[in-house]
Amino acid sequence: MAQRAVSEIIAKSQRILDMIAKEELTPEEKKWIVEETVRGFRDCVNPGFLEYRKSVSTDYTAVEWKDSGATFEDVNGKVFIDCLGGYGIYNCGHRHPKVMKAVMDQLKRQALHSQELLDPLRAMLADLLADLTPGDLQYSFFTNSGTESIEGALKLARLHTGRKGFIAATRAFHGKSLGSLTGTSKAVFRRPYLPLIPGFHHVPFGDADIIEKIIKANEFIGEEIAAVILEPIQGEGGVIVPPDDYLPAVREICSRHGVLLILDEVQTGMGRTGKMFCCEHYGVVPDILCLGKAFGGGVMPIGAFVSTAHIWQEMIPNPFLHTTTFGGNPIACAAAIAAINVILEERLAERSAELGAFFLDGLRTLAARYDSICVEARGKGLMLGVEFISDEAGYEVAKGLFENGVLVAGTLVNAKTLRFEPPLTISKSQIETVLDILEKVLNSVSKARCGAGRGVA
Ligand SMILES: Cc1ncc(COP(=O)(O)O)c(C=O)c1O
Repeated sequence: MAQRAVSEIIAKSQRILDMIAKEELTPEEKKWIVEETVRGFRDCVNPGFLEYRKSVSTDYTAVEWKDSGATFEDVNGKVFIDCLGGYGIYNCGHRHPKVMKAVMDQLKRQALHSQELLDPLRAMLADLLADLTPGDLQYSFFTNSGTESIEGALKLARLHTGRKGFIAATRAFHGKSLGSLTGTSKAVFRRPYLPLIPGFHHVPFGDADIIEKIIKANEFIGEEIAAVILEPIQGEGGVIVPPDDYLPAVREICSRHGVLLILDEVQTGMGRTGKMFCCEHYGVVPDILCLGKAFGGGVMPIGAFVSTAHIWQEMIPNPFLHTTTFGGNPIACAAAIAAINVILEERLAERSAELGAFFLDGLRTLAARYDSICVEARGKGLMLGVEFISDEAGYEVAKGLFENGVLVAGTLVNAKTLRFEPPLTISKSQIETVLDILEKVLNSVSKARCGAGRGVA
């Protein structure tokens, strides 16, 4: 596109700033926002998103505008119950007042850090995390995203062990920067970027024996494994819950072979599965714990990798060995401190366990009733998924839910599974509404696909 005159760019950006500042929009302004958004996506972001939105929604031009609690609104005022939860960002709900206050209070004083002096909130958040995380996890490095938390964890594992190899699981999702993408398993995301980081082995999720076999085989050939990296429950893989004895067995194998266990709790952490960290369901303490998404309270982007004093030793002689400019900045830390406070004070993990059991029960009943299109409902806490017989069936259900004011989405590695991952602040009556709408949609999708018969109420 042609470069524009400075005066035009100033005028254009001022119009946008005026719009951001507005509390109420006129019908013309709403129309302008929708048109500019669609045009910007088409010409300057990626028109592929418009095609994708057409496949999962009845109105692909729906533009989100504001949010609070467990709902958000599009620019035309249509309200959605958020059952996607920003792929696991909104554990505290949308714009939780306490998180907002912490960020705004901090903004009044200082937004970003000098990069040179000691910044207090980074120290205080790290101390809180040491208190909160299981076992002897103690030192934290703060990042800006989940993928960066994984990059840091992989680097730390190599640094500490002096080894190069990693074991990850099929259906894993750890992010899309080069290191984390190597751990991610879906061919469509990986193939265009091959060769990735050498030394990675992918094994079926849920099978601990194969992990030990690979560790031993690599010991034999002198290419020892530095770490095993797993999500305690695979989120993007389709909400896959492993057998209860899986993580304890992997923990024991890793300890016996001097291999580090990295748990990626970017999605399962911060109360999502009914415990503050999912590994606590299994009594397992990782050597490195990775956080992201909900860690910033649904208001600021921040992630972390956390490890023990012993493993951190190699980071100490040169603290600049691994750095990032914005990681651990004051406003992000303020949000994360508030998120920890809110999750504990409002008992959101316990709430996730209780409401999750209720929601899963309802989803299972519907999945059994509409078994012509549903395979099963599964999950832990409020990290739930419904698997359909095909991607197409899942898309049709997502579309029907969207039309009726419920947002869900497929998982990235397994498009057949729709996730139900609402804010942990969602009310029981909102869940009942979602179940009622889902029943209606399943009924019409199964009728349209299979005709009358079993699975049609
Ligand atoms: C388990 C897990 N790890 C890592 C990531 C990557 O996080 P981000 O998208 O913030 O880079 C995700 C994102 O979905 C995730 O679910």
